[in-house]
Amino acid sequence: MLLLPKAVHAAIDDLVAQIVSRQLAPDGYSETSVWSFGGNVPGSEIRLRKGQSVRRRLVNDLPQPATIHWHGIRIVNAMDGVPGLTQDAVQPGHSFTYDFVVPDAGTYWYHAHNRSMEQVARGLYGPLIVEEDNLPDVDQDLTLVLDDWRLAPETGQIVEDFDNQHDLSHAGRLGNLVTVNGQFDPEYAVARGARLRLRLINAANARIFDLGLDGLTGWIVALDGMPLVDPLPVSGNVPLAPAQRMDLIVDVQSDEGQIAGLVSQERGDSFGLVRLAVAGQAAANRTGIRPLPANEMPKVRLDDAPIHRMTLQGGAMRWLDSANLGETELSGRELAQLGRFWALNGYSDRPDEPFLDARLGSAHQIEFVNETAFPHAMHLHGHHFRIILDDGTLGPWRDTILIGRGQTHKIALIADNPGDWLLHCHMLGHSASGMMSWFRVS
Ligand code: C2O
Ligand code: CU
Repeated sequence: MLLLPKAVHAAIDDLVAQIVSRQLAPDGYSETSVWSFGGNVPGSEIRLRKGQSVRRRLVNDLPQPATIHWHGIRIVNAMDGVPGLTQDAVQPGHSFTYDFVVPDAGTYWYHAHNRSMEQVARGLYGPLIVEEDNLPDVDQDLTLVLDDWRLAPETGQIVEDFDNQHDLSHAGRLGNLVTVNGQFDPEYAVARGARLRLRLINAANARIFDLGLDGLTGWIVALDGMPLVDPLPVSGNVPLAPAQRMDLIVDVQSDEGQIAGLVSQERGDSFGLVRLAVAGQAAANRTGIRPLPANEMPKVRLDDAPIHRMTLQGGAMRWLDSANLGETELSGRELAQLGRFWALNGYSDRPDEPFLDARLGSAHQIEFVNETAFPHAMHLHGHHFRIILDDGTLGPWRDTILIGRGQTHKIALIADNPGDWLLHCHMLGHSASGMMSWFRVS
């Protein structure tokens, strides 16, 4: 018998950032030239088990420098993919190897983090799925990546007005074509009575989807990758902000020959996102739901956790009077000339000093006060946090929290991952025009 040592290190696969053409718009329109990780939109799905390593060599075949951020993964800081903070951007023709362990099961995604308002809008993102050791009992596990694109109808090409001042200062870049998994109104076959796990990922620059079910009943079982202790029955519409994820477990109720699906609502109108064509009858008939197995999260204690207020400022209708850019105070008009419309605590763009300088393992409360006239999806890198509900109890774990206009929300953060981490709005035009800060854990 021949004994060979087991390979300890899995091979490193390339993830090539490249320009390709895809049929995003309905038939009859031209293909669209997009930027892609691995040749598709969404980019290549990375699927592995909790505790395993992601090893990917980013090869940059694009005309711009690029990096990859692994959104929602409680990652080692050097792999976080933030140019100018955790690494140098990878120049065209060059490469960078990402190699890190995924500590938590759940639905995550990866995306470009250099000029992200342009690069994500061009298609540079993909799903990152970390499977539980014991997978839930479902017939199908469908990853659904939602996005919207701004295409010129005559040519089918992406409108390249990424720095458009109106978008930057208002709700951000909203598209005119909504796709799921890079297709307009795609169809999947399902059986009547089948149980599905739907992994929804909002990859849009700025669009908040207001999701509803049609011909399906079910539960939200995880938010931003993290399982809910008590799955939440879906009734009515549920918002999914940019960068947020939501795992649903749903049962198909529609009859054979009918179309069930996922819908979204905007200004009172409902439109379909995904068609689930019902054919055949599922073998098993399941009732009730069990929560997904929990990830190992830090214990949250609030008693001695200081409160840090972060005020969201600026934008159309609440224009900045002034704010600091670096250590220079500029008037709102001067900032606007530089394409800066927003500020966090009086700083437009990442300040020299961190918003929060936390001792490793310490507990903090961050109170987001939205003084602007727009909603914002605030995201922390390297950590999940818990929402503090109005009655003071702890809500779900999240990595991105939607803060409506005029709203105030508090979160609880256990700063247990050492490094310098971004904290920014995930409406990507907003972060590019000022809504960008950072915190340090050491
Ligand atoms: Cu999803 Cu700073 O990123
Ligand atoms: Cu914002």
